[in-house]
Amino acid sequence: SMRNALVIGNWKMNGETAANHTLVASLVESLEVSPVGSVEVGICPPAVYLHSVGLQLEGSVVSLGAQNLSEHNAGAYTGEVSAAMLRDVGCHMVIVGHSERRSLYHEDDEQVAAKTLAALRAGLKPVLCVGETLAQRESGEALDVVARQLCAAVSGLEADEFERLVVAYEPVWAIGTGKTASPEQAQEVHAHIRTVLVRVAGVAGQNVQLLYGGSVNADNAAELFAKPDIDGGLIGGASLKANDFIAICRAAA
Ligand code: G3H
Repeated sequence: SMRNALVIGNWKMNGETAANHTLVASLVESLEVSPVGSVEVGICPPAVYLHSVGLQLEGSVVSLGAQNLSEHNAGAYTGEVSAAMLRDVGCHMVIVGHSERRSLYHEDDEQVAAKTLAALRAGLKPVLCVGETLAQRESGEALDVVARQLCAAVSGLEADEFERLVVAYEPVWAIGTGKTASPEQAQEVHAHIRTVLVRVAGVAGQNVQLLYGGSVNADNAAELFAKPDIDGGLIGGASLKANDFIAICRAAA
């Protein structure tokens, strides 16, 4: 396809200075010694490590992303980090609406939409996460839930903003559970996301990179990435181990 493959590591709330340094050094060196061609690679460390990891990534092919952002520009929002601040420390992308944010921190579709806009307007690539729970899948609502989350976040976007949008499909029942969606299950939802994006954005919808997330590992990545609408992955646990993450990046090539 015309879309480059994209693999993003979401470290979640893991890491510390020395271990981060070792992990990033392995990753950068491996991709330098044996490049992955057109595969785009990104990592999303916790906010406090963005600056130092960003310095270590300078001159490498790996880009820096954040795990969350505020929907506000600046002001009295204690504990929050703005899109402009993320840009300032070298981020190119930011995860928005991860299911852990939605469920543990009560982010709703409206807030996710505001964060998506804030990211885009600051020049960041939002990696918009959508996905159904197990109960929703079992009651046959998966496609509707995903379409609703997607539309809520993208219906206010300008046509050219779709060029910087990334969507990650992460079924909640597959996150951190070791239970991966089958390539066929994932492709079905990805194809639906593609259809909705094309309906909303026209041809620009064809070019949006769609990532699968949920217990992706070095063994199952290749068969997922072989599907026509799965352009790469959003990797949690396996992104903390250099060899596993590198293998997943290579599986996307
Ligand atoms: O953002 C990453 C996803 O939540 C997947 O996490 O690979 O640990 O299942 P996981």
